[in-house]
This record gives sequence, structure tokens and C-alpha cells, in this order.
Amino acid sequence: MRKHFFAIFIAALILALSVYLFAEKEDNKMTKEKNEKVIALPAPREKGALSLEECIRKRRSVRDFAPRKLAMDEVSQLLWSAQGITDESRNFRAAPSAGALYPLEIYLVKEDGLFHYMPKGHKIEQLAEKDLRPALAQAAYGQSSVAEASADIVICAVYERVSAKYREKGIRYTDMEAGHAAQNLHLQAVSLGLASVPIGAFAEEAAAKILSLPRDCKPIYIISIGEPKK
Ligand SMILES: Cc1cc2nc3c(=O)[nH]c(=O)nc-3n(C[C@H](O)[C@H](O)[C@H](O)COP(=O)(O)O)c2cc1C
Repeated sequence: MRKHFFAIFIAALILALSVYLFAEKEDNKMTKEKNEKVIALPAPREKGALSLEECIRKRRSVRDFAPRKLAMDEVSQLLWSAQGITDESRNFRAAPSAGALYPLEIYLVKEDGLFHYMPKGHKIEQLAEKDLRPALAQAAYGQSSVAEASADIVICAVYERVSAKYREKGIRYTDMEAGHAAQNLHLQAVSLGLASVPIGAFAEEAAAKILSLPRDCKPIYIISIGEPKK
């Protein structure tokens, strides 16, 4: 009897150890895979070729783009202008935010996939490797500028972050904040010698599905950016 008990105990111990080792291996694999997809962006610069006034003066909605990929420093600069951290001591960002609650999440859609911007550490995480611009253009009722752009920056909102504090004003505050981030993007694009168009006309649910957004994260604005076609 005692012998049996000992054998069962050893078998249970081996089983538990195997389960633990397997789970840890899978966990390591997932962490590694996740880490492999996080890309550190080059530091943004704080001087441009044009003055702010020139950028405001030159900004125009452009809907025809030349086929060209964005360089990593252009991606860095654009994402920084939208939501980059500009006050490290308080983690305040480039665009103002009601109550500094930061309800916006920025997604980048370009030829080599889908990326999510992480303001802390100025990084992007790759979420998909497929070019989702054509599908996003379909969700935008076939607007060709969305498919032709070098990048579509999708400004998404987690309204609850603001509504929890500001109740019925939360939606309005969040939409206003998206406008701030969008305008920064438009002006930054001009400063980089690029152009942009704001896209408000798109089917929200279709876009959310294409980007596989979390349920509480709503796409509210697409900023299509590229080099104007000559
Ligand atoms: C909230 C909003 C939504 C817009 N949606 C679209 C759109 O879906 N497609 C488009 O081509 N332009 C869109 N536009 C751009 C306007 O058509 C454009 O700003 C307007 O014609 C003035 O031209 P400008 O941007 O060159 O000054 C939108 C602009 C705003 C502010």
C-alpha cells in the first residue's frame, strides 16, 4: 500500500513538473515572439526645414500619392507628432488631453503591415504583416487615397478613459483630442515634405475589424499620408 502511494506520488510529481516546464517554455516563446515584433523608433528631431507658419500656409488635403515607402525616421516623426511624449517627467504628450487621460491609440497601416504606437519608449509593435491599405480603402467607401498613401495613420479612441471622469462630455472631449493629434500629423507631414488628407468617411465597424481592434477601441479618424504625385 505504502509502495503504491509512493509510486502515485512520484508520477504526480513528474506530471506536475512536465506541465510547469511546458507552460514556461510556451510563455518564453510568446514573450520572445512579442519582443521580436517591438521596434524602437529613431529619436524624433525638434528642428524642421520649414517654419510652423510655412507648414500652416502650405498644408492642403492631397488625395493622389506617389508610390513610395516611408523611411523609419519619417514614421518616427509622424507618430511623435500625434502622440509622442514631450514631457518625460509627467508623461504628457504632443497633443493636449482633457484631464491628461490620453484616450487615443494610434495605429499605423503601411505596405509591410499593421503597427501600434507605444508612446512610452517611442516604439511600435507589429500586429500584422499584411498590407491592409486596400481593405481599409474599401472600408472608406473605396477612397483611393487610403490605398495609395504611403501610410494610413488610424486614430482610435477608448472613450471610457475619459467618460469615466467627464461622463457625457467624454465623447466630445475625446473627439476634440483626435482633432489635435490629426492637425499635428498634417503639419508634421508638410514639414517632412509630405502631404496628407483627413478621412472621416469610413465604416467604423469594418475598419475596426480590419485592424482587429480591441472591443473598447474605436477608429475615429484616418490620416492618409504620402508624397504628392507630380
Ligand atoms: C472631419 C473631416 C473629415 C473629412 N473626411 C474626408 C474624407 O473622408 N475624404 C476626403 O477626401 N477628405 C476629407 N476631408 C477633407 C476635406 O474635404 C478638406 O479638408 C476640405 O476640402 C478643405 O480642403 P483643405 O484640407 O485642402 O484645406 C475631411 C475633413 C475633415 C475636417
